[in-house]
Amino acid sequence: MKYGYFDDKTREYVITRPDTPYPWINYLGCEEFFGLFSNTSGGYCFFRDARMLRLIRYRYNNVPTDSGGRYFYLRDNGDASIGNASIGDVWTPSWMPMKSKLDRYECRHGMGYSRISSARNGLAFSQVSFVPLGDTCEIHKVTLTNESGAQKNIDMFSFVEFCLWNANDDMTNFQRNFSIGEVEIDGSRIYHKTEYRERRNHYSVWAVNVPVDGFDTDRQTFLGLYNGFDSPQTPLNGKANNSVASGWAPVGSHHIKVDLKPGESKSFVFVLAYCENPEDQKWEKSGVINKKPANILLGKYNTAEAADKALAALNDYWKNLLGRFTVDASISSRPDDIKMARMAGVWNQYQCMVTFNMSRSASYFESGIGRGMGFRDSNQDLLGFVHLVPERARLRILDIAATQFPDGSAYHQYQPLTKRGNNDVGSGFNDDPLWLISGVAAYIKETGDYSILDEIVPFNNDDKLADTLFIHLKRSFDYTVKNKGPQGLPLIGRADWNDCLNLNCFSKTPGESFQTTANFESGVAESVLIAAIFVYNGPDYIELCKRTGRADEAKYAENEIAKMTDTINKYGWDGEWFIRAYDAYGKKIGSKECDDGKIFIESNGFAVMAGIGIDDGRAVKALDSVKKHLESPYGIVLLQPAYKEYHLELGEVSSYPPGYKENAGIFCHNNPWVTIAETMLGRGTRAFETYTKICPAYREDDSDLRRMEPYVYAQMVAGKDAPRHGEAKNSWLTGTAAWTFVSISQYILGVRPVFDGLLVDPCIPSGMKGFTVTRHFRGADYHITVDNSAGAEKGIKSVTVDGAPFNGNVLPVFGDGKVHKVVMVMGK
Ligand code: GLC
Ligand code: GLC
Repeated sequence: MKYGYFDDKTREYVITRPDTPYPWINYLGCEEFFGLFSNTSGGYCFFRDARMLRLIRYRYNNVPTDSGGRYFYLRDNGDASIGNASIGDVWTPSWMPMKSKLDRYECRHGMGYSRISSARNGLAFSQVSFVPLGDTCEIHKVTLTNESGAQKNIDMFSFVEFCLWNANDDMTNFQRNFSIGEVEIDGSRIYHKTEYRERRNHYSVWAVNVPVDGFDTDRQTFLGLYNGFDSPQTPLNGKANNSVASGWAPVGSHHIKVDLKPGESKSFVFVLAYCENPEDQKWEKSGVINKKPANILLGKYNTAEAADKALAALNDYWKNLLGRFTVDASISSRPDDIKMARMAGVWNQYQCMVTFNMSRSASYFESGIGRGMGFRDSNQDLLGFVHLVPERARLRILDIAATQFPDGSAYHQYQPLTKRGNNDVGSGFNDDPLWLISGVAAYIKETGDYSILDEIVPFNNDDKLADTLFIHLKRSFDYTVKNKGPQGLPLIGRADWNDCLNLNCFSKTPGESFQTTANFESGVAESVLIAAIFVYNGPDYIELCKRTGRADEAKYAENEIAKMTDTINKYGWDGEWFIRAYDAYGKKIGSKECDDGKIFIESNGFAVMAGIGIDDGRAVKALDSVKKHLESPYGIVLLQPAYKEYHLELGEVSSYPPGYKENAGIFCHNNPWVTIAETMLGRGTRAFETYTKICPAYREDDSDLRRMEPYVYAQMVAGKDAPRHGEAKNSWLTGTAAWTFVSISQYILGVRPVFDGLLVDPCIPSGMKGFTVTRHFRGADYHITVDNSAGAEKGIKSVTVDGAPFNGNVLPVFGDGKVHKVVMVMGK
């Protein structure tokens, strides 16, 4: 069943019923303040760090799902004089938490904002929620409209539950928490100031721009003893208690009486803000917080017009950003191509920006208290947003590189607030260093900014250990060269890209971390995938050396790449596909000799991406084997056959029930590697097929099975061995976003930045009649039309640039701020 539709004109996904198979969320915020916002107004917000500075409470794994958010309760008092039947009717217009019956409901998730509209018994409600550019708050503009023929007297109650800042403590340390909650109330502004009396210099405020008829700040008083959010006493009574929280659970609720004549409409601007004071200006007077920052911020958004203006500015921001890469497939009328255009042009890029902002911290699957930023994840995420925010990508690269160790290895994760490596997780994931080369190469191809290589960047965040970014890349490269196993393949360490291939772990202790434990440092276990990643990065590294006058280093690198290629040919090929790894005893993993785990996706995709076996037919064989053994209707599974038992020598991969996660789930992140590899063989129809299978927009009709949002990729879809084959999990924060964007934009549509310009080399299904891409690139706009009336999959017949015939397909760097028209005709 379908739960909504794409509104391509407004770049919104429109959810048409509230009971989606899972909360379908959106992200508010694009700078320092962020909110997660579900289609029933659930979720929470935070300043910079979802663990340390969380404003409102959210209970993960709650029942019912997704209770907690920014809620509005409405009570219709009807018109007592005419005995209106709606008297005393209380409901939540966002459906949750009361699961109220609504006469109409719609939620539009747009670029950085969401709008919920509903109606009940002649009262229309609309709530538009967003984080304005430049400020640290959420705005919720609420409009009530009387659509009935009679006067309406409404009581509106707002409701948020404050989080005591540190989300981890908030959920665990009750012996303290129940005694520390403090608020201050000033007219329509409810200040949450827990811990402000001691070491915090920040507070939050939940405010509305009109006078109120009452308030509540004590949760139990508002809800009533033993009541949940679905049966709150105060709205049911129709009267606030003016409760002042002292310890227990501070909340914020405004009571506003709204009288509406037939046809009348009134708007209210609710703001939930984070405010900071300098240490010496914390207090107005003893015990009274300094409200200056709140006054300034709230003063900016005290009218509906001001809120609308801020929303318009946000809309412009996204319009400009997404204007840097647009896709139009209307020349080709196939529905499949239209879906591709809306994903590649809008939603996929939007998701890439969300992964840029969130890394893997806060989603409905990542609790915001767990993982920091991953070294490998962040470098790969960059591939998906570097064209949108190149300046911010540059800063990100420098932050990441600063967490590298002098020997080239890297902290696996770092904490965004401190930008320091995370000691608990440590290092030893031997693929990590190589992703820095991918990230930097992508940045330079996008911008032409070689100066980044001369930036002085610390190692291990220690300025005394600083050197140029180029030296960081060299250490990355050398790390693989210097850390090889018995056959000359790279040692895997704790794991490679597959976090769950823990070949030195040998864990028998429940709860022991597979990623940070090495009970048997074999010095033997090797990864064919790391070898392929090394060879894949080779040409870029060599090019960077040559272009910066490092001819000797280039020669050395060429030699090492050639050696590694030989080693893969010798020890990485299994006859029909590429082997995945060698375990701590030197036994093959991902080979026909194995009982389970005979074939893996990653090494096959990446080896072909690295160009291995393309000229001798092995690449074709490998990808055909992938199709034969790993294909499913919902994408390519990670391995087959699934591991049925726990294998001490393999680690976490074998800990998952068959068909889930790394144990033969469709781990979407690696599917685009196969897509890209297929384009390298010129197989456009097959490449597109692998693209569409994991692409959410193609599964909109199938939402009851897939369950996740149809507008974003999920990390994992249950594989063919799982009872729930086809069900997705872990939407939003996944490397799938970046890699699918690379696969569709750079390899299928084929518009790819290279060192000398913008390459256009499409590899599309023969049924796609053509498409138009506009691409901002190094200070000019390229308007590229590809005509495939010939029905080709790859190959270029002619190119014109600004009306004149053009030789080759690397468009020059114009850098003149103008629009250049490119027409490419495919065919022989
Ligand atoms: C998760 C991790 C990523 C890893 C992948 C495969 O997505 O964030 O680093 O590569 O799982 O295990
Ligand atoms: C990645 C993997 C997951 C594993 C985790 C450990 O997210 O996908 O399966 O448990 O890493 O950090």
